Amino acid sequence: MTTIYKIALLDGDGIGPEIMKEAVKTLKCVEKRNDINFELLNADFGANAYFKCGDPFPDETKAICDQADAIIKGPIGLNHEESKKIPVDKQPERGALLPLRARYNTYANYRPVFLPKALGHFSPLKAEVVGEGIDLIMIRELVGGLYFGKKEVGVNNKGLRYVKETLEYDEEQISRIMHEALKVSMRRKKVLHNIHKSNVLKSSVLWNEILEEVAQEYPEVEIKHILVDAAATLLCLDPTQFDVMVMENMFGDILSDQGGGILGSLGLMPSACIGPEKSYYEPSHGSAPDIAGKNIANPYSMIGSVAMMLESSFNMAAEAKNIWNAMQGVFIDGYSTPDLSKPGAGVKMISTSEFGDKVVAKLKAMPKV
Ligand code: IPM
Ligand code: MG
Repeated sequence: MTTIYKIALLDGDGIGPEIMKEAVKTLKCVEKRNDINFELLNADFGANAYFKCGDPFPDETKAICDQADAIIKGPIGLNHEESKKIPVDKQPERGALLPLRARYNTYANYRPVFLPKALGHFSPLKAEVVGEGIDLIMIRELVGGLYFGKKEVGVNNKGLRYVKETLEYDEEQISRIMHEALKVSMRRKKVLHNIHKSNVLKSSVLWNEILEEVAQEYPEVEIKHILVDAAATLLCLDPTQFDVMVMENMFGDILSDQGGGILGSLGLMPSACIGPEKSYYEPSHGSAPDIAGKNIANPYSMIGSVAMMLESSFNMAAEAKNIWNAMQGVFIDGYSTPDLSKPGAGVKMISTSEFGDKVVAKLKAMPKV
């Protein structure tokens, strides 16, 4: 019997709709190659939803997401000036994205930072630093810390405007992300880099304490502690020393963008946001309003997010691998989109949709799994 999966598609803003189109192309191809039916449910989300109905995460969208088996989400947000047209609490980051994360409790955010040697030319790092390629995964806690702590804004008794934001974690929140990270380490090189700032932050002291306790259940994994600022330096100087890195929410936001930086673009950064019952998948980058609608944005991070969904939500690891190989194959054949490469140097420049077509052509040619 054909398996049916319901997938909510949230295009998002800026380049969201055009890269989502390529993700859908890929899904249709996967559908044909496997005994599977994807029921695709489109829903409004982000600034576009706000301008349509006054809510960046409308109830209708919530209902669609609730009944879906998984969610694929494009980037959201507007440029600095356009954002001002939306009240602060309805801006898509605060009004849609964080509520989405909270609604499905997607506490584990997987951000692979991956660049095979053959694609080393995309990286701003020297060839000898990239070595045999960059292959690490950042595991970011996604529903705690400063992002979700209590906030206070006001005027203090000296008459000065002040703000207070709190970084909160309890031991359960820390231990569940540690279990994730340690399990991933067991499947990889059995080395876990713990990113913290325990020389200053009490939250990191508890973070490290809980890690020590949880790690006893995974005696084979070697734990390496590293301060977040030092980690930022080492990611540039020698990223190949890392395999699995675990970190709290805010550190993960910053270091994962740096991860995109050492690859050469955030366009190469898909991600998976895993919750206990439901997960959603999204590029790590923003909506790039400056290049929206030009058909030049690379859809790698969006199609890569599809691959991560197939693996994590639908148990289709082999087909996910085929998608990765297809995308890398297109680059290895010398093609690129203008957002990733400058003209010249033998690069054959193609558009967003041509990139998607080429990925699909490669996937079609691969043996079925
Ligand atoms: C990310 C993004 C979001 C975050 C923004 C859009 C709120 O930067 O997913 O990394 O800060 O988590
Ligand atoms: Mg970010």
